[in-house]
Formats: sequence, C-alpha cells, structure tokens
Amino acid sequence: MQVIIRSDEETACDLAASIIDGRVRGHLDSVLGLATGCTMETLYDNLARRHERDGLDFSLIRTYNLDEYIGIPPDHPGSYRHYMNEHLFNKVNIDLRNTHLPLGMAEDLAKECEMYEKSINVNGGIDLQLLGIGESGHIGFNEPLSALKSRTRDKALTPTTIEQNKHLFDPPESMPKRAITMGVGTILEAKRILLLVTGSKKAEILAKAVEGPVTSMVSASALQLHERCTVIVDEAAAANLSCKEYYNWIFETEPEWEEYR
Ligand code: GLP
Repeated sequence: MQVIIRSDEETACDLAASIIDGRVRGHLDSVLGLATGCTMETLYDNLARRHERDGLDFSLIRTYNLDEYIGIPPDHPGSYRHYMNEHLFNKVNIDLRNTHLPLGMAEDLAKECEMYEKSINVNGGIDLQLLGIGESGHIGFNEPLSALKSRTRDKALTPTTIEQNKHLFDPPESMPKRAITMGVGTILEAKRILLLVTGSKKAEILAKAVEGPVTSMVSASALQLHERCTVIVDEAAAANLSCKEYYNWIFETEPEWEEYR
C-alpha cells in the first residue's frame, strides 16, 4: 500500500485523474473498475475535462461498477447507473454498451451476481479499480463482517450507510436497504487499485483502514493485502494517520512518482 497526501480535494482528485489518464492513454482498451459517491464527482469532472480539452479517448474503454441498489430501475435518479451516466458516461466518448453495472431489478439476483463475475473474467479482469470508502469502512457495499474472500452478491446495508446516503433519495426513507456489490475477493483481484479519500469525515475510518489491523469489520483494511494499492487522500482525510512524514518522503523520492510530483 502506498499513501499519497495532497493538500486539498482538487489536487487529490487531479492526481487520481492523472493516473487513470495515464492508464487509458497507454492501453486504449483498458478495463476500469468504477465507484460512485460524492468523492468521485470531482474526479469524474476532471476526467470529462481531460476528454474535452486533451482528447482523452474512452471509445474502447470497458467499465465495471462496484455496486447497484436492489429494487430500483436503471433510470431511477438514485440509481448508480443514473449517477454514472450523469457524472461521466454522457460527458465522454464511451460506448454505453461497454459500461457495466449490476442490474438491481434482476429477478434472479444470485444469477445476476454470477453473470457479473463471469463478464469481468471474460473481459480479462479489471486493470485499474477505483474505490472510495464509506463511513462504515466499506468498499463497494461490503459492509462490516463481509468475508475477505467474498464475491459479487446481494448485501444488506448498515444503518451507518443508510444514514450517509439517504439524502440522495426523495423521500430519504425510500432509499433501498439492499444492494448488489462486488465482493472484497472480487475487488482484490484487480491488477491495480486506487483508493481516493477526501474530507475530514473520513479521517477516522481511513486511519483504521490503512494503519489498523486487517479485519472484516473494516472492509477497506483488506486492501493492505493487495500488492499494488495506491491511496490518495487530502490533508483533511489524512489527519489521523500516524506516519504522514514517511508517506510524503516516499512520494517525493520514489522514481515511480516523478511524473506526478
Ligand atoms: C457509496 C458507495 C461506495 C463509496 C461510498 C462513499 O456507499 N457504494 O463505493 O465509496 O458511497 O461515498 P462518498 O464519496 O459520498 O462519501
């Protein structure tokens, strides 16, 4: 795991966007794993600008999102399909047929989950997986006690998550209480992982995920097991980290990061 601390949200998102930009330009047919949430909005704006301004080309890119709510259709304003279309897909030249999210309205949820995993594998696996973190420590919707080897499945959401996300639904009480999510095991199979975390509300859970023990109580801590996981945070989210100087020193001195400094 490598932690990179940027001064604010804008520069943290710009660094994450630069890394995605580098991957897309280097491999035009990359498979990207995508995330939702407020944190990603600044990042997706940044990618849309790079498309517009610098011709960043998404025409052959394939994407798999982490999760989708159960029981609402793709065109529901609270669905993650709607979020992705609004914040990224409709702003770049991606072929919507190459974008994938689990279908929350599927009649046979177990089958839908199995097919989602198969589809990722048929496309060669995920090259770069983008992640945020929930206040419950979740990645995707892997709530506390999700098995570290879990696969894509139907998951009940915790009260913390419902509290965090219900403002996106009208009325808030209509927020679905279950979702389909890639499992922790599915996520860990991505070749590279980028965890993007901003804002002081995430400082406590981020420190647990990065510097605490690996535990299914904090699903994001499982990222410590991944051999190529980069954690990009702003100063506010980094507030509770104990080894900040060490992380900064690595970023300033490692040749790998030269082009991003
Ligand atoms: C949702 C998503 C997560 C995301 C989290 C963070 O719960 N399922 O993948 O990491 O939101 O959201 P925000 O960025 O709004 O804090």
